[in-house]
Amino acid sequence: MTILEEIPLARPVLGEAEEQAVLDVLRSGQLSLGPRVPAFEQAFAARIGGVHASAVSSGTAGLHLGLRAVGVEEGDEVVTSPFSFVASANAVLYERARPVFADIDPVTLNLDPVAAAAAITERTRALLPVHIFGYPADVPALEAHGLPIVEDACEALGAVHGDGVAVGARGNPAAFGFYANKQLTTGEGGMLVMGSGEHKVRVDSERNQGRAPDMGWLDHDRLGFNYRLSDLACAIGLAQLDRLDDMLAARAQVAGWYRAALARLASERGLVLPCEDFGGDRRGWFVFVVQLPLGVDRDATIMALREVGVQSKPYLPAIHLMSLYRELYGHRPGEFPVAEEVAERSVALPFFPELSESQVTRVAEALERVLTAA
Ligand SMILES: Cc1ncc(COP(=O)(O)O)c(C=O)c1O
Repeated sequence: MTILEEIPLARPVLGEAEEQAVLDVLRSGQLSLGPRVPAFEQAFAARIGGVHASAVSSGTAGLHLGLRAVGVEEGDEVVTSPFSFVASANAVLYERARPVFADIDPVTLNLDPVAAAAAITERTRALLPVHIFGYPADVPALEAHGLPIVEDACEALGAVHGDGVAVGARGNPAAFGFYANKQLTTGEGGMLVMGSGEHKVRVDSERNQGRAPDMGWLDHDRLGFNYRLSDLACAIGLAQLDRLDDMLAARAQVAGWYRAALARLASERGLVLPCEDFGGDRRGWFVFVVQLPLGVDRDATIMALREVGVQSKPYLPAIHLMSLYRELYGHRPGEFPVAEEVAERSVALPFFPELSESQVTRVAEALERVLTAA
């Protein structure tokens, strides 16, 4: 029997440029609070078309500081999506505010603007749309409410709204994430992009223990956090930015191969593929998540794929049904039926820029065999 090489879920593209960038920082002796931080911020803001950017230790840290910047406080409500990575709702809890969930659109899997509008009350302080799986959320529709918006763009680098504005460049604080599976990685890290100079001053202070820019080493005029990103990470980020176009193009190509390879399972067996771009929106490809045909046992499918060397995982569980959120707010199944059904059927397949066409074929054939046997 031939032992096939295992196909991982994700793998970053790192090369000599990143190695050299790290070496340069090590040799400079300035590992933090050095020149690579503003250099990465400015290059990232320019790339997105945003005005200001603050490098932070994670996407979650960016969301937290973004929510604080728009004034979210204890007792406030923030309307958001239950179909997201848990960090987007957790960031609201950090401020003792309440994430109020609204159901998602069954096609884009993003917050449904009509459901979001219905969830707004007099206590709503902000809206927190998530550009899930890199597909642009309908932020223009949400902007009509005149409430502050904080965007979770952690999965959406490279995405563009239908009106031509890049995701993250609308002026609302928008958090990007640089964990190792993301379109651009610094290992761990994030960037908050924003239009307001006042927000930038506040965020820069709060990521650095509440220190004001013109103050001495130990003078802190507000509560802050240690959400800094190191020069080592920023140097890697700068090298990654140089290859971003190629990495995004490679991801889009892999997605195209998957679409072709899975077309028959989609049309004949009820496998649901990620939605195609429409209305001028452009996805920034992050993951390739399919919804299994109704009635198929997901755990068994994932196990069967693993046996033939294909990694996959459930992605994502609905946040409101996690134990913490059930305990805090008494959430129960049935509240957000679209999000719940999608969450139960979704599986992430291997997806990264260097995935080859033959590996995509192997994944598709393995899935076809498993679903035919099911
Ligand atoms: C939708 C979403 N929000 C928030 C985050 C949090 O980002 P980080 O892991 O960098 O804190 C992630 C990334 O994992 C994410 O996918």
